Amino acid sequence: MTHHTVAELLSNTKTPIEIEIKGWVRTFRANRFIALNDGSTIHNIQCVINFEDTDPKLLKRITTGASVSIQGTLVKSQGKGQSLEVQVNAIQVLGDSDPDTYPIQPKKHSFEFLRENAHLRTRTNTFSAVMRLRSSLSFAVHSYFNSNGFYYMHTPIITGSDAEGAGEMFRVSTLDQKKPPLTEQGEVDHSKNFFGKDTNLTVSGQLEAETYAMSLGKVYTFGPTFRAENSNTSRHLSEFWMIEPEVAFMDLAGNMDLAESFMKYVINYILEHNPDDIKFLEDRLLQEEKNKPQAERSEMTLSDKLRFVVDNNFKRVSYTEAIDILRQSKPNKKKKFKYLINEWGADLQSEHERFLVEKHFKCPVILFDYPANIKAFYMRLNEDGKTVRAMDILFPGIGEIVGGSQREERLEVLKEKMAALHIPEEELWWYLDLRKYGTAVHSGFGLGFERLVMFATGMSNIRDVIPYPRTPQNAEF
Ligand code: 4AD
Ligand code: MG
Repeated sequence: MTHHTVAELLSNTKTPIEIEIKGWVRTFRANRFIALNDGSTIHNIQCVINFEDTDPKLLKRITTGASVSIQGTLVKSQGKGQSLEVQVNAIQVLGDSDPDTYPIQPKKHSFEFLRENAHLRTRTNTFSAVMRLRSSLSFAVHSYFNSNGFYYMHTPIITGSDAEGAGEMFRVSTLDQKKPPLTEQGEVDHSKNFFGKDTNLTVSGQLEAETYAMSLGKVYTFGPTFRAENSNTSRHLSEFWMIEPEVAFMDLAGNMDLAESFMKYVINYILEHNPDDIKFLEDRLLQEEKNKPQAERSEMTLSDKLRFVVDNNFKRVSYTEAIDILRQSKPNKKKKFKYLINEWGADLQSEHERFLVEKHFKCPVILFDYPANIKAFYMRLNEDGKTVRAMDILFPGIGEIVGGSQREERLEVLKEKMAALHIPEEELWWYLDLRKYGTAVHSGFGLGFERLVMFATGMSNIRDVIPYPRTPQNAEF
């Protein structure tokens, strides 16, 4: 007898059949009904025991959290609430649980409590649904690029350059921390370090992806990135996954088209492939909404929100237009924003981004042509000499989800920019080479994968959409 998953059994149309199944007990009711889950689906399968024929010692060991193997017959259910069930012929407890100490009791737990038990939290419906959706979204990412002629590239995790120029990097070093070798000037001597230079964990694979775009044409990376910014918010992680496509001969308009088509594809993918998990999370959110005051309740369900992104064009708005809208906005005039928008050139905070998407446009927004001095060094300078071909995509409930740009392809302009920002040419000689040999217009963007998963699942804290979150003061598991 082969061992089946719950998902396979529940989609079975032939009954009765003999089956074997393994999983974890979610609940055991009336010494008779086991709700069994094996992670293959949000649904449990009900397994019915004939307790008169079962050893009472064995019955005692069937507790929440125990792993069991069941041989039985899959039949149409006689009870309400499920269409199929298993009549148990034999059951073995593979691994006992301890009902007194097992943290995942069959009741509602707070997300904070479950974060402390992140190694067991995928035994709950919410977290198993979130992580199945996360898996499905990653697959959709690869599927989109693969079917559109992109090559998947693995960019290095350890790097000697700071792609974003923000300086918020984790150092990678094998030097003696208490007594590092020093130069004559008394600085730490990184020539004695493992790589013969100072190195860090990457903040972005973009610069290396550009080198491959300038030979393979269309590439993307999808890997972990690291930022040592001390921001303890519900949207920041110190270790997060980023998807970064990079395309030769593509300008900013093409970049916007690509990002929009890509995001629609991946969201549509889960709508088609994961309806049960989405339905579960949608119902969870509806319950949560009921506890909010009427005015704060969302009019849209989770699947409405997902479908809305798939069905509507993203609104494209220049930074300059956005500043005008914000300056004239009620929260600005009534001094409700923490950071008031007074003049052109101001950096947008998440309160402004969320005002634009959630209150003003009420749809995903692509902001473009930002002031040069609030964006990274590699972005293409516009003819006006003060803005760059940058784009940020803002999503309702999330704020910035994508950041990208057309890249500066002119050697002299790039060198001037680097000099102004004190970025040494020796560090990025290879990056400059791309502008020396066969330079071309090219563009790309970075999508923060966890922010996408947040949007897709309706989860409101980024720590709940990655298996083991890394945040300031926290690297458990
Ligand atoms: O806007 P960012 O910093 O852009 C880049 O890194 C570019 N090199 C991308 C490119 O053009 N290839 O980051 C891109 C996205 C953000 O829009 C956000 O979604 C996500 O990465 N992100 C974070 N997600 C979680 N935690 C953090 N600390 C994040 N920082 C950025
Ligand atoms: Mg950004």
